[in-house]
Amino acid sequence: MAEKRMVLTADTLQKRVQELGWEISREYGGKKPLLVGVLNGAFIFLADLVRQIDIPCEIDFVRVASYGKNDTAGSITLTKDVEKQISGRSVILVEDIVDTGNTIAFLQQLFSGRQADSVRICALIDKKERRQVPVPVDYVGFDVAEGFLVGYGLDFAEQHRHYPHVYHLVP
Ligand code: IMP
Ligand code: MG
Repeated sequence: MAEKRMVLTADTLQKRVQELGWEISREYGGKKPLLVGVLNGAFIFLADLVRQIDIPCEIDFVRVASYGKNDTAGSITLTKDVEKQISGRSVILVEDIVDTGNTIAFLQQLFSGRQADSVRICALIDKKERRQVPVPVDYVGFDVAEGFLVGYGLDFAEQHRHYPHVYHLVP
């Protein structure tokens, strides 16, 4: 079993998620934003985030699959779509990690094409070292330089999602 080293404690996560919730509340007053969580990784982040938002908002989910071996370029398909109408809505895509950027760029294009009023990106973690597509991440929880992360929703082969802290998985 790989060793794991603590990167973000539950307390650190909670404080930053609270700030993001306040920021979104301030900037989206009167707009009733639609927060679209990207399953499965964002489920804990989204659950904590919405409890720090004190304006009316709605929630929906998408799920994507990627078939690339080392990156997601050109191999992304939508396996679960939202059920809400997107036209005219202020959409906030809520993702666990933006890595190469391919997944979130695919989703941003998809929702923009549905005539959303705006499509912004909120990611718990921005990992820039492997970025292939220049995507503007509007709300960033944490910049993490490198390494494979697990916990707080993030998985490795569907394991480790349930930890309250984020760890660097050291092979
Ligand atoms: P992309 O490379 O930006 O398209 O990211 C694809 C997906 O890979 C993200 O939604 C994450 O779920 C996953 N991912 C990228 N880096 C990590 C990591 O360090 N831990 C767990 N999942 C990751
Ligand atoms: Mg993911």
